[in-house]
Amino acid sequence: MGHTDSVLLKMEGVSSGYGRVEILHEVSLEVRQGTITCLVGPNGAGKSTILKTIQGFLRPTQGRIAFEGQEITGHPPHTLLGLGIASVPQGRQVFPEMTVLENLEMGAFTVHDRQIVHRALEQVYALFPRLRERRHQQAGTLSGGEQQMLAIGRALLVEPTLAHMDEPSLGLAPRFVDQIFETIVDLKRQGITILMVEQNAKRALAVADWGYVLELGKNRLEETGQWLLHNPEVRRMYLGG
Ligand SMILES: Nc1ncnc2c1ncn2[C@@H]1O[C@H](COP(=O)(O)OP(=O)(O)O)[C@@H](O)[C@H]1O
Ligand SMILES: [Mg+2]
Repeated sequence: MGHTDSVLLKMEGVSSGYGRVEILHEVSLEVRQGTITCLVGPNGAGKSTILKTIQGFLRPTQGRIAFEGQEITGHPPHTLLGLGIASVPQGRQVFPEMTVLENLEMGAFTVHDRQIVHRALEQVYALFPRLRERRHQQAGTLSGGEQQMLAIGRALLVEPTLAHMDEPSLGLAPRFVDQIFETIVDLKRQGITILMVEQNAKRALAVADWGYVLELGKNRLEETGQWLLHNPEVRRMYLGG
């Protein structure tokens, strides 16, 4: 595998935004196969906008996005899901009236082979035994941490190559925060490439292979997670001292 072969997702000079308001200004980034890549930066920097643009909810006005070497710029969300790009949006979005199992099965709506669905379900239950125990419980009655496991589990039902997650630890009790970061490392071990945005930048950079610092919708800095974590200026400016 050559240098460029290992780039799973590539954004090149992407501008994007809401209506006429441009939020991302020629953002470029690469996510390498098998890594954890983390986006950090102040509130409003455009981190969530990057994920929404990758997933096809927002259409770039400039630049291109490629996945496994194929252009996916402007492709609609379900197509990207079909290619193996799974999204865990911000805010633990589960269907509260549906059971855990029904929620998980919703994640597999693009998968028509029941055997694959069954295999993926078993993998999710192995990762989160809690979800198996509670499979017939209404999702709305789960704790916040359990709902986040469910949101991650649902994304895994397509057996993704790349999973992107927006603030997976936000608002969770400390023991669940630990568990979410352990899960992310587990997913990497299983060969799933991770792109994540985290408020908890120190925790995220500690497990990240590569990090991007974004500011005002632009690339500011990129380096290894460890370098960013230990750089005094980065710590002071972006990691709260
Ligand atoms: N749905 C939206 N409509 C209009 N502007 C938005 C919308 N969502 C976010 N924005 C604006 O885009 C900018 C970047 O937001 P966002 O990508 O959510 O930042 P981050 O995730 O880095 O905190 C902010 O100025 C925000 O107000
Ligand atoms: Mg955000």
